[in-house]
Amino acid sequence: MLSRKRKIFFLLLYVTTVSVLFNGRQSARFVNYISHVLETRSCACQKCLSEGEPWFMDRYNQSVKPFLSRKHGITEDIFNWWKRLQGDRSSFNNYTEAIDKVFQMIPDKDHNTQPSPDKCRSCAVVGNSRNLKGSHYGALIDSHDIIMRMNRGRTQGYEIDVGTRTTHHVMYPESAKPLPNTTHLVLFPFKTKDFRWTINYLPPSSHKYQPTKNTIELIMLSPAFMKYVHENWLLNPTRTYPSTGFMAVVLSLHMCDEVSVFGFGADSDGNWSHYFEELRNKLLRTGLHKGPQEYRIIQQLFELQKIHMYKGW
Ligand code: C5P
Repeated sequence: MLSRKRKIFFLLLYVTTVSVLFNGRQSARFVNYISHVLETRSCACQKCLSEGEPWFMDRYNQSVKPFLSRKHGITEDIFNWWKRLQGDRSSFNNYTEAIDKVFQMIPDKDHNTQPSPDKCRSCAVVGNSRNLKGSHYGALIDSHDIIMRMNRGRTQGYEIDVGTRTTHHVMYPESAKPLPNTTHLVLFPFKTKDFRWTINYLPPSSHKYQPTKNTIELIMLSPAFMKYVHENWLLNPTRTYPSTGFMAVVLSLHMCDEVSVFGFGADSDGNWSHYFEELRNKLLRTGLHKGPQEYRIIQQLFELQKIHMYKGW
């Protein structure tokens, strides 16, 4: 039991602390100080992504590992979810064998990086929207540390609007194109045979037993990350799954401290038309994906100042 004197002492301490903390200006200063301490801990930018509003924190889960490595594999449950995306008939054994083969060919690096107090990593995520045409964003895009493009997105002939550098190119077999050896290939796998495909796609110089400077580094998105985007960000819609571009935006929130998004948004007919070609299928809309919902989430991230969004106008 506390003595009477001690009780009074603790009560006075409590009252003093509360009155200091909750007295207008001092309390604001205290809150600023705490946020400053927290901010400086996670990254070296003015504002860090990993702290923030409830809407964002409800969706953003920093513990999810975006990339596959031997250490960060997936469970059979996740595999069973993922294989349904494109009707893959493989078994979990087939899947693990395919991954093993890839890791016999490439170094098993852990690409899952965390923010750190001495770094401010800026990312440009460049979608393929037609709204890039005439935008003159090229120099701005090129000024980022990481520049992520996707699918058949290209720079040649469009440099003024889309820039010249690509550090990461997201693709899968059906959307593949040749890459220079200065660019990381980020595989978004949708079926087991996509992993086998990478082995043939990579030039022999990319395999770990012949390391040369003509090396394309392969990074593989984890099916667990796809499930996380589907469930946490899109709230688990049925008969559809997240688009490459939307997954790339969420991925950038896990790889970078400052994110700028370019080239997202359907045209006035609601079609996902491209800056580098004329649209042939006028009934395309947003394909198999919930384009308007994805766009609203990207817009919300912009409104909460989690990302910069450049709309081409
Ligand atoms: O058409 P494609 O899938 O190659 O485009 C890459 C990504 O860019 C899409 O997955 C989509 O998220 C985004 N996009 C967009 N608006 C467009 C075209 C593409 O938001 N008009």
